[in-house]
Amino acid sequence: MVYNLLCQLMKGRDTALAAMLLVFVCVASWGLFQLLSARAAFLHVGAMMGSFMAANVFFHIIPGQKKMIAQIRAGQIPDAEPGIVGKQRSVHNTYFTLPVLFIMISNHYPMTYSHANGWLVLIFIMLAGVLIRQFFVLRHSGKASPALPAVAVILLLSMVWYLSPQTIDNTAAGRVTAAQISRIIDNRCVACHASAPTQPGFAVAPLGLIMETPQQIAQHAERIATTVRSKYMPIGNLTGMTDGERAMVAAWYAQQRSGP
Ligand code: HEC
Repeated sequence: MVYNLLCQLMKGRDTALAAMLLVFVCVASWGLFQLLSARAAFLHVGAMMGSFMAANVFFHIIPGQKKMIAQIRAGQIPDAEPGIVGKQRSVHNTYFTLPVLFIMISNHYPMTYSHANGWLVLIFIMLAGVLIRQFFVLRHSGKASPALPAVAVILLLSMVWYLSPQTIDNTAAGRVTAAQISRIIDNRCVACHASAPTQPGFAVAPLGLIMETPQQIAQHAERIATTVRSKYMPIGNLTGMTDGERAMVAAWYAQQRSGP
């Protein structure tokens, strides 16, 4: 099945183009990740693939069909070439579908793009998407193999393992006082999470979460610890939170839970 998929992609004249596309998408994922912020890199890979899909339809699939229909109308034997090219481009679009869909919603899954090797994470998720798509393609012809989604699930589970947040070594942070935490939250979070945010573009506190007083910080301790640990917050690390400060937040939260 996986082998069959490779064979299908590598068949004859399609080989070079399919291989080039595969390499191109992988290199683009890596390259954009070096150039842009991680969130933007994911979206640009998706925008690029989406543009391929649209261009395939507008420049190959539709003109090819029009040409063949015109030839049939004129009583000629239609040239098979545009049909072959159109088929090839629809095959490409088929395998692009799930990766592009994932990228469209990827901004809601910061654990994927915020990983140090986010580009690699994206490539593996896209591969899983291709395998799952291949399962549905084969199902239409009654040849579906359960091994395809099984391999995709193994791939995704390996990603989950790879993405699980590394335990932050909070022993180095020692005992952390509430005053230290208040200062960190003040410097890194309150620009947005305040009753009157100072961060440009924020009229109100996001999700109504305000962290200005020690009481408010204590009240949201668990959510603060979770989002700081996963690096979801500060969003885009706009306020430049350091790893040392993240370790202190983790240590503080561990202290809170184990009691004073
Ligand atoms: C530049 C603005 C900004 C800064 C700085 C910022 N946040 Fe946020 N925060 C947001 C936005 C926007 C959301 C809403 C995100 C969403 O809807 O997924 C949010 C949501 C949250 C949530 C709720 C997330 C959830 O899914 O439940 C928590 C908790 C949070 N922030 C904690 C923090 C902490 C802790 C810091 C500082 C270390 C911080 N934020 C710094 C903008 C910011």
